[in-house]
Amino acid sequence: MDLHERIYELALTRSFFFPGNEPYGQVSGFYDYGPTGVLIKKKIEDLWRRKFLRNEGFHEVETALITPEPVLVASGHVKSFGDPVAECMGCKSKVRADLLYEEYAKKRWDGKMETLAKEFAKGGITCPACGGKFEEPYMFNLMFKTGIGGSLAPAYSRPETAQGIFTAFPRIFRNHGMKLPLAVGQVGRSFRNEISPRKGLVRMREFTQLELEYFFDPEDRSFPKFKEVEKEKVRILPPGENGPVEATLREIVKKKWATDEIMAYFLLKQWDFYRSLNIPEEKMWFRVLEQGEVPHYSMGNVDMEVDTSYGVIETTGNAYRTDFDLSAHAKESGKDMGVHVEGKKGKIIPHVFELSMGVDRLFFVLLESCYRPKNEEKDWEWFDFPPAIAPYDACVFPLMKKDGLAEKAQEVAGMLRDAGLDVFYYASGSIGKRYARADEIGVPYAITIDYDTLEGDTVTVRFRNDGKQERLKIQELAAKIREFKKEGKVSLGD
Ligand code: GAP
Repeated sequence: MDLHERIYELALTRSFFFPGNEPYGQVSGFYDYGPTGVLIKKKIEDLWRRKFLRNEGFHEVETALITPEPVLVASGHVKSFGDPVAECMGCKSKVRADLLYEEYAKKRWDGKMETLAKEFAKGGITCPACGGKFEEPYMFNLMFKTGIGGSLAPAYSRPETAQGIFTAFPRIFRNHGMKLPLAVGQVGRSFRNEISPRKGLVRMREFTQLELEYFFDPEDRSFPKFKEVEKEKVRILPPGENGPVEATLREIVKKKWATDEIMAYFLLKQWDFYRSLNIPEEKMWFRVLEQGEVPHYSMGNVDMEVDTSYGVIETTGNAYRTDFDLSAHAKESGKDMGVHVEGKKGKIIPHVFELSMGVDRLFFVLLESCYRPKNEEKDWEWFDFPPAIAPYDACVFPLMKKDGLAEKAQEVAGMLRDAGLDVFYYASGSIGKRYARADEIGVPYAITIDYDTLEGDTVTVRFRNDGKQERLKIQELAAKIREFKKEGKVSLGD
């Protein structure tokens, strides 16, 4: 069984995620996060907000999900946001023509429809379902169309959160200092009508993006903090190389693998973010996209890729979007998107660097990376989540339900919750089974209330990874758990 199949089974029983609208049979590409999964996902999102926005002094917006057609005409999505599809002449099933071509030809598609047309016409590529031949591939627009109000004015569910940031830019610029650089992020749902999505959270029709748009003067491509980090290294796969190489940020800029210091700085931030989530370094790298692969709005892209049991998947896109979007919106709306910059005559249209991370793919990668099979120490499968994003900070268990232990345990759980910690209280079954339950959803600390607690106001704290225990005073418990969490301590021996 592949790891992703096992992860999927565990996701269903441990409430990480499951198919949407389950009683009606699954429509592929739609997933619900369960009670455990939602806690982890929100923590990932909050950690991203903290690291990529608040700690940098950047702004956040929450813009509308339904987008009127003219906005997406301007951005190029109405015309160009599609995937090539081929229909089987036999069973009429529809497939992603580029993916089938890449599997068959053992090389990347060059982005040209003529290449697909030629190869499919030869008849060598056949339908995986029935073996039949295909009609000529065509472009299929991925947006979900809808209509606004009684007149059903054409609109779409947004295909990326970015456009809301671009249309809000002039107001944010005016309200927040009238200076460049200016950076604005957004966490929210995006929608794409993917053709026959099959890989669980990797290819969804509704998913969550963490996007950051960094607006800057195109004549100043430096990044204020670049000097402090230029010697830091990440793994990167440049065009023409067979495998990723280690390179400093300085080299990456010098060799033009990143478009500038701005992009390079944010590559390091992603790298550190992924490492802090226990994603192994040897499984991840950045890939510099070839010219034919970059999206219609970009003058240079670097994707973050992770090796998973589904194969290599793109988890983050980094794009130099230039003034493409702001200029297009200025033209389509007739509104001025230019800004005054200190020391310059007239107005300029800022250029944009974009970082676009998918939460759901990251969540899946996290489950694969943190999964631990049964072994001699633990007779159950468990998750080695970093405490910062574990679903609960701690579990609280009374050793027994009687003799006032349950009441005391409830009191301790309440005290920890009041101190802002997420706590899971559970009183049934043997203590060993309860420890296993905590491990199974990756809770780092299990607190047991026993008879000594009633005597001396102390509890045992069991560390998830080595199962060892420490006795702590109730008075200092909340502060200690916070400290362990901050240090990422998951074993007594850490
Ligand atoms: N604004 C740029 C943009 O949307 P993208 O490369 O199309 O760029 C960025 O998407 C990220 O969004 C991807 O790296 C991936 O993590 C996530 N993503 C894109 N399509 C997805 C899908 N169908 N299901 C899950 N995540 C997806």
